[in-house]
Amino acid sequence: MGKAGRVLSNTDPALRRCWHPVARSAEVTGQPSRAMLLGDPWVLFRAEGVVRAFPDRCPHRRAPLSLGTCEQGGIRCAYHGWRFGPDGGCLEVPALGGEVRLPARASLRPAAGVVERAGMVFLAPEPPLAPLGEVPEAEDPAFEQGDLPAIRARACAGLLADNFLDLAHFPFVHGGTFGADEAAAVPRYDVVRDGHGFTVTYEHAFANREDPGVAAGLRPLTQHRRLTYRLDAPFHLRLRIDFVEAGGANVIGFFLQPETDTSCRIYTSLWRDDLGGDPARMAEAVDFEMAVLEEDLRVQQAYDELVLPLDPTLELHTRADRTTLELRRVLADLVGAAEREAGAAPPDAVAGTPTPVTGLPPDGGQFGRVGSGTFVGTGPRPSTVSR
Ligand code: FES
Ligand SMILES: [Fe+2]
Repeated sequence: MGKAGRVLSNTDPALRRCWHPVARSAEVTGQPSRAMLLGDPWVLFRAEGVVRAFPDRCPHRRAPLSLGTCEQGGIRCAYHGWRFGPDGGCLEVPALGGEVRLPARASLRPAAGVVERAGMVFLAPEPPLAPLGEVPEAEDPAFEQGDLPAIRARACAGLLADNFLDLAHFPFVHGGTFGADEAAAVPRYDVVRDGHGFTVTYEHAFANREDPGVAAGLRPLTQHRRLTYRLDAPFHLRLRIDFVEAGGANVIGFFLQPETDTSCRIYTSLWRDDLGGDPARMAEAVDFEMAVLEEDLRVQQAYDELVLPLDPTLELHTRADRTTLELRRVLADLVGAAEREAGAAPPDAVAGTPTPVTGLPPDGGQFGRVGSGTFVGTGPRPSTVSR
């Protein structure tokens, strides 16, 4: 378990070793855009169908590359026109004209991983320690997907994940939506841990007022729901609700992008196999879920300290809080693994520091000294800079 007093903020360095959502797939186009993640800006663009992601700072004068344009599968900076290839290699420095040998430090370092899944783009800044979570229903043609608008909130990703997995707040926070019918007592349930994730399953009785089979006399009003919660660390969450008697399933996916210490972007999607392709019913389901999310955010945005405690002694836990205690354990284990590796390996291998300076071409080259002596290169010779 975590060290005494250890908490997890939105920009904890351990989170660099994880997958995070950074955009919906449709938001990433041939026009570069910016995404904030763990306090760092990234530029995203789509070239020949493939999403590319680089730190949103040109190595030349640190201008945001997201102001640039896509070109030949790569990107051209809007400031002095340096062009970078699909893998980030610097291919052109227009001010130098013609052929020129460019040092490695002129290149962009791509994200360790970029993947599109379930209609979103996920990014791992550094080699991830845990696999990206799955949404099996996103691949299943029996399910339709409905997306809530991605929203930005003053919130802590760890606390939002905690809230999604929390089973004791429904009658108090969700009185305006689904909470009025919910019992305050949390049923007993099992938490099954695997790697950096866990699954929680329980079944309970409820009044299925939406089932047409009730009115037709085919099924009783009191039926059962099986709820399956799944967490894949750090903030990839899914709830599947199976209707035992009436059949059908509803899935809510909840994916959190920790942007800065005080900001999160929240992606919520629904997968339903019971709406018969009716867009009006999906729109209604999305609106309802939006109202549920707003109820949750009223509490989440009011927290003074935007951190999730990993040290269990910082909070009080009850039998009804086993899911959210397991979240803290999983995240504490992940943080521990990231810190152990960071301590054991040279920082370049783990912490993603830039490629070491390679020095200038042997002759000083065009890149080293140009015209009146302006120093353009990357070598360890700052004293040669003309002012
Ligand atoms: S800042 Fe990007 S080319 Fe100069
Ligand atoms: Fe809630």
